[in-house]
Amino acid sequence: MDKLVIKGGQTLLGSVKVSGAKNSAIALIPATLLSDTSSVLDNVPRIRDVFIYLEILKNMGVKYTFNQNQLIIDPNGLHSFPSPHLANQLRASYYLMGVMLAKFRHAVVRSPGGCEIGLRPIDQHLKGFRAMGAKVQFKDNSYHLTATHLHGAHIYLDEVSVGATMNIMLAATLAEGLTIIENAAKEPEVIDLAVLLNTMGALIKGAGTDTIRIKGVKKLHGCHHTVIPDRLEAGTFMIAAAATKGKVTIGQIIPKHLEPLSAKLREMGVTIQEKDESIIVTGHPKYTPVDVKTLPYPGFPTDLQPLFTILLTQAEGTSLVSEHVHLSRFSHIPPLMKMGANIRLEGRTAIIHGPTTLIGTDLYTEDLRTAAALVIAALIAKEETTITGWRQIERGYEQFLLKLQSLGVEI
Ligand code: EPZ
Repeated sequence: MDKLVIKGGQTLLGSVKVSGAKNSAIALIPATLLSDTSSVLDNVPRIRDVFIYLEILKNMGVKYTFNQNQLIIDPNGLHSFPSPHLANQLRASYYLMGVMLAKFRHAVVRSPGGCEIGLRPIDQHLKGFRAMGAKVQFKDNSYHLTATHLHGAHIYLDEVSVGATMNIMLAATLAEGLTIIENAAKEPEVIDLAVLLNTMGALIKGAGTDTIRIKGVKKLHGCHHTVIPDRLEAGTFMIAAAATKGKVTIGQIIPKHLEPLSAKLREMGVTIQEKDESIIVTGHPKYTPVDVKTLPYPGFPTDLQPLFTILLTQAEGTSLVSEHVHLSRFSHIPPLMKMGANIRLEGRTAIIHGPTTLIGTDLYTEDLRTAAALVIAALIAKEETTITGWRQIERGYEQFLLKLQSLGVEI
């Protein structure tokens, strides 16, 4: 059952609606625990990372109902730290450090797991907590954090980190005094978390810029919030439409969040029409090569780099892709080369010569975005491709196969 068989030479046609953002939802869900009263989240994607988070919370005594895409969380029964076994399955369990530290001045959280995309330290999260008065110890594979007096602090992040920015925001909401995060991440998901926390009664200013100011408050209350659309899911369909030379309307999105990708697609010769809440992508027979450098938002997103690389194998000439966020995020290159792609890896840069006719073969992956990338590669390849490990896709994409099928694809 873990094998996906895809016939090559297919074209995406039609329209698709994008679900709520994974990387928002997995921060907003733990954030609701900062209150003692229930919160309602709409547009929550039904994906495996969300289900794992809910399993972690259930184990901690939290009650919830999850109907369609509405999640109601009642944090009243919260009685313990996350189980190490469950926390280990989900990288975003690290947000429970900030939440528990803020709420109980004490947290024990297992060292986070996640996708295989190289070393992913959390030193900047810990630097922030320490600056706020927390003592941090690492024992039995878990982080133990304690703060008798959790206070505001002026924190300069050495890396622009989404996780560290959000984790420090979570802790700072209930700390005493003012916290200032400098060199903060500007991702739309950071803004989404700030909007949720402010609706809960927090005092956060500057989210979306590189300086965020959080004035601690005594208490937060439950709220009603709608998760923003998943720009990475939207980007996946945009790239798939261009690569298969199809025409797809991608709806229920915020086009502005896709600008770094839309600009590169246009540069290659893809037609992009932006509407208020949708984008129409029209592919063409020939593409111009482009160079891409991944950077924190509003730079080109690292999460779309493996997918964009597939598209570049179809451009006429040489393209360069440099990875500047997760330095060893290249697990898609060996399977692509197995399909016949002409790619050379030099340090953090992939040099891609195109156009290449990819040939279907047996592939394997353990990474979410690589799995999505290989599906696109399989769609444009000659003959049949088998992907083992494709279920990684279910960690981050809601009904991916069904959505592809609705665009005319046979899987
Ligand atoms: C989030 O990871 C996402 N994950 C990732 O999405 C995404 O690739 C990444 O942000 C960048 O956009 C979640 O939201 C759970 P970072 P995160 O902290 O927060 C270095 C996907 O495919 N760094 O912004 O863990 C780090 O090594 C996933 O959906 C430190 O050095 O990423 C990396 O090079 C994969 N020390 C860079 O910063 C730290 O303390 C950015 O990482 C923290 C990070």
